[in-house]
Amino acid sequence: MELTQVVEQRVSIRSYKDQEVPVEILKEIARMGSLAPSVNNYQPWKFVAVTNKEILHKMAHEVHDRIEALPDSETESSKNIKSQVEWFATFFEDAPSVIALAIEDYESVLEQGVDLTHKDINKMRNYPDIQSAGACIQNMLLAATDKGLGACWMSAPLIASKTLSEILKLDDKHKLIAIVAVGYPKGDIKPKAKKNINDMFTLMK
Ligand SMILES: Cc1cc2nc3c(=O)[nH]c(=O)nc-3n(C[C@H](O)[C@H](O)[C@H](O)COP(=O)(O)O)c2cc1C
Repeated sequence: MELTQVVEQRVSIRSYKDQEVPVEILKEIARMGSLAPSVNNYQPWKFVAVTNKEILHKMAHEVHDRIEALPDSETESSKNIKSQVEWFATFFEDAPSVIALAIEDYESVLEQGVDLTHKDINKMRNYPDIQSAGACIQNMLLAATDKGLGACWMSAPLIASKTLSEILKLDDKHKLIAIVAVGYPKGDIKPKAKKNINDMFTLMK
């Protein structure tokens, strides 16, 4: 597909056919993610693909428990909101695969020359680690679209990030950023309404 077509056709897909995604394709999606720009070209990526149903179930179960444990007002509407959020955080359980993205800290040049911590510098630069991860994830979504797959970027499951990191066997150096659910789309694909560029674009010359 042409790039414009891929960008225009990408939508978040949350419902999948019962069809496995070959591991070579999952790896290729991760490879496309890894080509994204990253701060200092540090390429901090670690991709963990999961196709094992039991592991996906365990992950979703942990997320479910964390959402259930959130304090609420015990009203009907609060319960409805919780169950809605829960679905958007756990539907990956029914995907044939997910790719989790974790990153490690980059080494800042500034860190070596000034008396500021890595954390301070990262904040000052408006979290270039997270910005890099965003570029990586978008590349993965576009790659999935290009291959006729449907994908969804998910941060809601990170409510259980500590336990998910353990399940995914991440070491202490790697911070879990998001998971991307990947599968062959099922049902109609409904693109979201998007704002008109004329309402968002200004030129200063
Ligand atoms: C940082 C980020 C986090 C997201 N987290 C979730 C999520 O946890 N669950 C979910 O269903 N969708 C999630 N989404 C997908 C958005 O809901 C979706 O991109 C948005 O509604 C626009 O729809 P589109 O992707 O079809 O254009 C996330 C998207 C981004 C960029």
